[in-house]
Amino acid sequence: MVDSVFAPLPIVRTAADLRAKVRRWRAEGERVALVPTMGALHDGHLSLIEAARREAERVVASVFVNPTQFAPHEDFSAYPRQEAEDARLLARVECDLLYAPTVQEMYPVDFATIVSVGEVTETLCGAKRPGHFDGVATVVAKLFNQALPDVAVFGEKDWQQLTMIRRMVRDLDMPVRILGVPTFREADGLAMSSRNRYLTPEERRIAGKLNKALAGAAAYVARGAPAEAASEAAAQALREAGFAKIDYLEVRDAENLAPVKVWDPARPARIFAAAHLGKARLIDNLPIGSP
Ligand code: PAJ
Repeated sequence: MVDSVFAPLPIVRTAADLRAKVRRWRAEGERVALVPTMGALHDGHLSLIEAARREAERVVASVFVNPTQFAPHEDFSAYPRQEAEDARLLARVECDLLYAPTVQEMYPVDFATIVSVGEVTETLCGAKRPGHFDGVATVVAKLFNQALPDVAVFGEKDWQQLTMIRRMVRDLDMPVRILGVPTFREADGLAMSSRNRYLTPEERRIAGKLNKALAGAAAYVARGAPAEAASEAAAQALREAGFAKIDYLEVRDAENLAPVKVWDPARPARIFAAAHLGKARLIDNLPIGSP
């Protein structure tokens, strides 16, 4: 396909301009889907846009590298920014609008409000990245209020984030439907991520083992093995493969993220991991049994 057949994607940078566009669509009776991202788009993000197109006549993607969800030592400055390329990719999957606000637009100097979701943010990534989920909840709440979408689409790759957003929407009665989309993977199973570009070729070869280790442990647990023993064996295999540090590798209830000792097939559970490889921190999760 030749890119020139795709009209350039309209871009808005203020909440007021976004609202004006969305208001016009809604007045025509069109439904609006929102796909929040931090850009550096890959096929996983684009699969979210495609899912959004099946749900609504109009699809808005946001690209905003949200400073409040990065800790001071994390990769906010290094996070890849490539707006022109992102806009080109979004046009190819027939996204209707890119919302790319500035930090000043999102966070005026006297910004003073934090949305903080309890329980499901207290473990896993929440325990390792203090403040991270408050930053995500706050920016996503703002994006929902700015775009007023009928539906918002998130990836299962960030299962804890998806779980938190569902809880926030329920607790705060936000009038938006949340759609989760399965993780899009490379051929060797590695979950696509904007951070995979931090991997050297050698690390990239090792990275596929994260998914394989999780799949192996998930299969044991599905057959009745104790979750802790299966998880520890998988973590050990990853350390031997070259992962520097395993933040966690655990089986949890899929809905409230409570620890699971032995899987009860009546309750959905998933296995979750976060592990460091070179400069990258990779996360992944899989269902126990068939999803
Ligand atoms: P980002 O990491 O850019 O991800 C944007 C969306 O794409 C999230 O819903 C994420 O789960 C989804 N995604 C990423 N990789 C995926 C994959 N391989 N398969 C399917 N979906 C995938 O998540 C964020 O940004 C931010 O925290 C955000 C929600 C935008 C708030 O700032």
